[in-house]
Amino acid sequence: MSKPKLLSTHILFEGPRKKLEEHFEVEYWKGEERPSREEFLKRVAGKDALICLLTEKIDSEMLDIAGPNLRIVANVAVGYDNIDVPACTKRNVAVTNTPGVLDETTADFTWTLLMAVARRLVEADHMARSGAWKKWNLDQLCGTDIWGKTLGIIGFGRIGRAVARRASGFRMRVIYNSTTRAPVEIEKELNAEYLSRDAVFAQADFISLHVPLNTATRGLLGPAELAQMKSTAFLINTTRGPVVQETALIDALERGLIAGAALDVFEREPIIPDGLRRDNVVLAPHLGSASIETRTKMAMIAAENAIALFAGQRPSTILNPETLNKT
Ligand code: DGY
Repeated sequence: MSKPKLLSTHILFEGPRKKLEEHFEVEYWKGEERPSREEFLKRVAGKDALICLLTEKIDSEMLDIAGPNLRIVANVAVGYDNIDVPACTKRNVAVTNTPGVLDETTADFTWTLLMAVARRLVEADHMARSGAWKKWNLDQLCGTDIWGKTLGIIGFGRIGRAVARRASGFRMRVIYNSTTRAPVEIEKELNAEYLSRDAVFAQADFISLHVPLNTATRGLLGPAELAQMKSTAFLINTTRGPVVQETALIDALERGLIAGAALDVFEREPIIPDGLRRDNVVLAPHLGSASIETRTKMAMIAAENAIALFAGQRPSTILNPETLNKT
């Protein structure tokens, strides 16, 4: 019997690749760059399964071109704002993501950014590397202390909590806001105080964003919120770019309304506006979960989800289980 046809828009890693190939006839996108929309649509036509990255837009047009055989879209990311889930559900296409495995890695990177911007690591590296460093000096590249400060977390799910957990080593006060308040035991364990969103913006020395991108959170941080922040405070964003109104952020940086920012995500990736290319802004190309261990686990979850579905089992991280009894 011939195997079902699967398109993977990335070559993935050896482990998940081997596993997939036992069950599917797999076509990989092997290009260095992400496939263009045209290329992607051409390749997805007639496939039974799709493994994709957050760079691929999964919408009605794509689903129509894929055709009626498509049974699963397995996203190699926890965020799934690139996928029109209702459009998939309407066509009985299962959608899966990769929650859980990237929380600690993303929290590590959030701290990497926070520390880099507070202690001016990128500027320091440039100075050391370029030969511009001539002598030790008392006031050279002085940053700001992290220890003992207040960390404000917006969105207190798995990643927000993992970020909070790391703050105890820095003896920080942790304040947070989230659509649902965490259970008391979690607040106690993490030494975290629930406050209104306004209070978090007003009191924190570092604001770190950990909400998913959806209609409620798009543009959540705009001129009003930035104006509430302390002029000595830093913004850290490792979630999704459109959660922050980029023009408002540039304006706030230009006017000195906040001290700086460390950004892993942008409104229109991979475009980074010139207004963000400043010494007090640390920039990264969406690397929150980018450790070999974690990215391999993410790819493995996507592979296992596709395999499970075709074996008549429930994919472990399905987002629209209502499609299961129909496929
Ligand atoms: C995700 O998983 O949503 C990240 O942005 C990429 O790891």
